[in-house]
Amino acid sequence: MEELRNKYLDLIARAADEATIEDVRVAALGKKGEVALKMRELGGMSPEERQIMGPALNALKDEINTALTAKKAALADAALDERLRSEWLDVSLPVRPRRMGTIHPISQVTEEVMAILADMGFAVAEGPQIESDWYNFDALNMPSHHSARAEMDTFYMKTPAGSKEPPAVLRTHTSPVQIRALEKNGAPIRVIAPGRVYRADYDQTHTPMFNQVEGLCIDKNVSMANLKWVLEEFLSAYFGKRVKTRFRASHFPFTEPSAEVDVQCQWNNGYVTVGEGNDWLEILGSGMVHPKVLQNAGVDPKEWQGFAFGIGIDRIAMLKYGIPDLRAFFDSDLRWLRHYGFAALDVPTLHGGLSR
Ligand code: DAH
Repeated sequence: MEELRNKYLDLIARAADEATIEDVRVAALGKKGEVALKMRELGGMSPEERQIMGPALNALKDEINTALTAKKAALADAALDERLRSEWLDVSLPVRPRRMGTIHPISQVTEEVMAILADMGFAVAEGPQIESDWYNFDALNMPSHHSARAEMDTFYMKTPAGSKEPPAVLRTHTSPVQIRALEKNGAPIRVIAPGRVYRADYDQTHTPMFNQVEGLCIDKNVSMANLKWVLEEFLSAYFGKRVKTRFRASHFPFTEPSAEVDVQCQWNNGYVTVGEGNDWLEILGSGMVHPKVLQNAGVDPKEWQGFAFGIGIDRIAMLKYGIPDLRAFFDSDLRWLRHYGFAALDVPTLHGGLSR
């Protein structure tokens, strides 16, 4: 017994890894291990012998077990210490440089416009880009024979075979959202509707897809004066300085009276600066919403009135950030995107600033 005890405690003490420990355990306590074999001999002993040898063997088994467990824990501790010594990170090292994406100027300017107009109480409304003939034209007082329809270079969708409905269109402006918003919420209402619009046109200042923001304000006592104030406040906030405006009488089927708005500007070597100089640049259409439009949207024009406006987002983005060619907005040229893009987490807010 003493021999066995010394042998195994010595083996355990010298074991250098978990696998060796396991080998020692099997050799001593496994089914065919030395201690187990001795236990089996108990059966052939006299009761007196057994009474001495039984407890002694059990005690030996326990002792070896305890030694095994302790050694295992010690080995694990040593292994952990070794890992802690060899595996470490310098968390104070600077991160590896990584190419960051940027926010597209259209997204940035849309955010700027929404921040300014939201502050004036306008909520954001949306409508579909594939629009019915009714919402895009008729409801806005542009019946099918109307000349303004022809000017819009509309993209028409295919009509299903046998359909008597006029074909759906890719919306040519954001104005149909006026009707949808009025139908949904009724009056009074104050909404803006930013989004994509489509016209078959392509040159330095026209692309077949571009962006507009529509504004609509309907209430009991809304007048042209309110329109003028909102637009002047908006333009000054957007361009970051007091911008002189010129309201020119114009015509849109969905407004009466209608006005086109020009901003004061100056041309220098093909580049334009807004808010100084003696030239004028047209940037938006507006007017008092036509009674027929209100009626088409289920709002009583005897009770309600108000203004609407439509601004080209791409246009005012080009003006503010000195971008000369509209087509480049949609080329996805990485060099252009990196040059004109905005930092992703630097979102424009009224308190944090709108311009970059
Ligand atoms: N829908 C017009 C366009 O795309 C822009 C416009 C003009 C919108 C006058 C309006 C408005 O709401 O009152 O050319």
